[in-house]
Amino acid sequence: MTSFPFYLDCDTGIDDALALAYLLASPQADVRGIGAVSGNVSAAVGARNTLDLLELAGHAHIPVALGAHDPLAGSFGGGAPWVHGANGIGEVELSMAAAGLAPETAAEMLVRLAQEHPGTLRVLAIGPLTNIAEALRLEPSLPQLVAEITIMGGAALAPGNLTPVAEANIANDPEAAALVLSADWNVTLVPLDVTMTNVLEENHRQELLASSGAVPRALGEMLGYYFRFYEGLFGRACSAMHDPLAAALAVGAVTPAVAPVVHVDVDTTSGPSRGQTVCDLRGLYMDYPEQPGARCRVVLALEGDFAPHLVETLLAYSSAAAASEPVGATVA
Ligand code: BDR
Ligand code: CA
Repeated sequence: MTSFPFYLDCDTGIDDALALAYLLASPQADVRGIGAVSGNVSAAVGARNTLDLLELAGHAHIPVALGAHDPLAGSFGGGAPWVHGANGIGEVELSMAAAGLAPETAAEMLVRLAQEHPGTLRVLAIGPLTNIAEALRLEPSLPQLVAEITIMGGAALAPGNLTPVAEANIANDPEAAALVLSADWNVTLVPLDVTMTNVLEENHRQELLASSGAVPRALGEMLGYYFRFYEGLFGRACSAMHDPLAAALAVGAVTPAVAPVVHVDVDTTSGPSRGQTVCDLRGLYMDYPEQPGARCRVVLALEGDFAPHLVETLLAYSSAAAASEPVGATVA
């Protein structure tokens, strides 16, 4: 199976932790570097969580770079402890990794990796887009160097989750999102329309908790916290799967059922729709005819059920633990 070099940008977070573990276990992905950005937690706490998870998963060699603390405009708002816990990973305590931070910023890491892998690097962004915007400012030809970028963010036809119309990753840095979504590259946008309708249930969490692998068990514990938040929305213990679903789409392991390529704008005004992703879905009435110049594939629905695939992939850590080997592909 072909494996592609990946740069992951995240605000580690419970669902970011799931996405990271999923990506490491995916044979299609060869994670070359990870940048942390403020979102669910500060960039510094997100980087700490990422380093600790990498060590737990047997991938401590993957470099982690500290990214932006503040969005392009304004300052970091303190994260979402009511969703992810004060430490971002549902109050689960992981052993502190021995590895330290990379000697470059997240934006510098992304630019370096794009230059080292011209035309093949895949970018997966599952937090606010500040680091990606800073990388675009550092290297304006970044869109020509990167093969594609997958972004968890936005709400196309669905309501928002941070405001009535805005999703958290976009709402936490609308200026960065506007820059990234107007750049000349192939974007796959994974909005709330599809992440809120693909749900992980309590039986899936129990499967993770019953695993012999430390990674699935830790994720199962974190999900306990996440499920309590989503119980307030869905009325039962379960959760949306924002970031791992974006990871699965980025590696091509799941197939979109409805994913028109359309123009997307981000509202950067200071009014009530600040942070809204304005997706031109008027083609809905005509089965989405081609929009000249559009580069953003907006995933609105999936083929099949994502949760069993996610759980099966994460449970691969059980057999790897037994064999004392890290899960996931590496390319020399
Ligand atoms: C997104 O915001 C964060 O809370 C999650 O990690 C996800 O990336 C969902 O709106
Ligand atoms: Ca995230």
